[in-house]
Amino acid sequence: MDADDDTTVLLAGASGDTGRRVLYLLARSDLDVRAITSSPGKVDRLERAGADEALVCDLFDRSDVQRAVEGIDIVLTTVGSTPQEVFLADELVDGTGNINLVESAADVGVETIVMESSLGVGGDRASPMARFFGLAIGRVLDAKTDAERAIRESGTDYTIFRPGVLTAGAATDDVQVASAESGLWGAVSRADVARLVTAAPFTTGARDRTLDVVRNPLLRDRSERIDWQHP
Ligand SMILES: NC(=O)c1ccc[n+]([C@@H]2O[C@H](COP(=O)([O-])OP(=O)(O)OC[C@H]3O[C@@H](n4cnc5c(N)ncnc54)[C@H](OP(=O)(O)O)[C@@H]3O)[C@@H](O)[C@H]2O)c1
Repeated sequence: MDADDDTTVLLAGASGDTGRRVLYLLARSDLDVRAITSSPGKVDRLERAGADEALVCDLFDRSDVQRAVEGIDIVLTTVGSTPQEVFLADELVDGTGNINLVESAADVGVETIVMESSLGVGGDRASPMARFFGLAIGRVLDAKTDAERAIRESGTDYTIFRPGVLTAGAATDDVQVASAESGLWGAVSRADVARLVTAAPFTTGARDRTLDVVRNPLLRDRSERIDWQHP
């Protein structure tokens, strides 16, 4: 799809470490941006960071989510659980929350959904890093697996990114990307992931793809060339 000022993007996770970098990029585009947070105390911050509209929306609350997706063309989700939630919560936003978002988005005819998932999801054991993720945070990966499945079954165009260990480094635009479970491993900056999440809806080569993402120059020969189109 083309990026223009009639295109409305919903960003879930806009206050998070990846999401705020996505919001920074969206705010500098012509796109209309609706950012959501489960915390009323963060609304002002999202508006100051450039959201055209900031809404309180708890992804566990179906009516909140139905309201949030009204009039939306593109959904980007970078949500994730806190370590306490991973061990203590009955349900995880990585799974149930994302699924609520995907189903509501499909109901209103959203064109594209982009999700930040994780290496190791879907039973990926193609690298030692994916196997480690599986041992360390298996519950989160199971939840993300369910959300990924909901996206693929939604009938909506999609891109799912499965990054390696996320870091706080700067964007390099020199990342290795390949079909899921290709054995890529390594770290990658949230800034680089944010660049890809923002570009995916406008990039033909990313449509209906699940892509591992790392920055590991040793694995350049396993990386695909994709012509990312930034809005
Ligand atoms: N850490 C790693 O090395 C690693 C590796 C691979 C993949 N990942 C995945 O990458 C993603 C992004 O990670 P990150 O560290 O950048 O994110 P983060 O800083 O943990 O941000 C998580 C976001 O989720 C939102 N959220 C949580 N519960 C919510 C709810 N019920 N309703 C609405 N929003 C909710 C939070 O928003 P509010 O608090 O404003 O509601 C927050 O903005 C996550 O899915 C993570 O699992 C992480």
